[in-house]
Amino acid sequence: MIRLRQLKRVYQEGDAEHVVFADVDLEVAAGEIVVLLGRSGSGKSTLLNLISGIDVPDAGTVEVDATDLTRLSERERTMFRRQHVGFVFQFFNLIPTLSVVENLLLPLELNDKTTSRFTERARRLLRDVGLEGREHAYPDRLSGGEQQRVAVARALVHEPKIVLADEPTGNLDKETGLEILGLLDEQVRSAGTTMVMATHSREVIGMADRIVTFSAGKLVTISGEDLL
Ligand SMILES: Nc1ncnc2c1ncn2[C@@H]1O[C@H](COP(=O)(O)OP(=O)(O)O)[C@@H](O)[C@H]1O
Ligand SMILES: [Mg+2]
Repeated sequence: MIRLRQLKRVYQEGDAEHVVFADVDLEVAAGEIVVLLGRSGSGKSTLLNLISGIDVPDAGTVEVDATDLTRLSERERTMFRRQHVGFVFQFFNLIPTLSVVENLLLPLELNDKTTSRFTERARRLLRDVGLEGREHAYPDRLSGGEQQRVAVARALVHEPKIVLADEPTGNLDKETGLEILGLLDEQVRSAGTTMVMATHSREVIGMADRIVTFSAGKLVTISGEDLL
């Protein structure tokens, strides 16, 4: 589902070049859950932004479901992302002026998927994440955990090919974080969606099919047992 080849990303800092990573290769199978583990500043968000086509690499290719994003225009990448990618962020990123249900319906509206099958799916997801009855609340009335529940539902409602989660528990207490991980695991697996989750927290290890980390600027697979 995802194939990264020889990816390189460099940031210019004045006259100096800062190589975040080079020669990154990664293949993620359909339905696989890969956890990208690494310290703050190691390049996790940079890598997710390349997979989603928000950012483009300095070298290498990014294929998602056999589409090479590096060959698309920015507008085409935006369309691709809207249709095929779901996101869960550290700071939830719900739209504050929209209610829970409006936030949830937004990906459907952007994709012309407001058919009864999809609105029914939205309703079911809202129930599955435990927010039935809160449909008309605004994000500022919800706890962090509740906001992230909405974000999990929003990431999946339009049936994306891939879900990218960037530190989804980073702004939650441990117990709430574990609840959110459980929910993500359940929803992503039942939908058969491919997921890449970036985190510096080892709590996620249990849900990973595979754990990868940066080592000397490359991505390597590590075993969960090595981390215990
Ligand atoms: N827009 C940017 N301009 C310059 N440097 C950046 C930019 N974004 C990230 N970096 C640098 O790239 C490295 C990786 O950042 P990031 O991908 O955000 O790491 P992580 O998500 O693992 O914490 C860091 O050294 C960071 O300072
Ligand atoms: Mg980050």
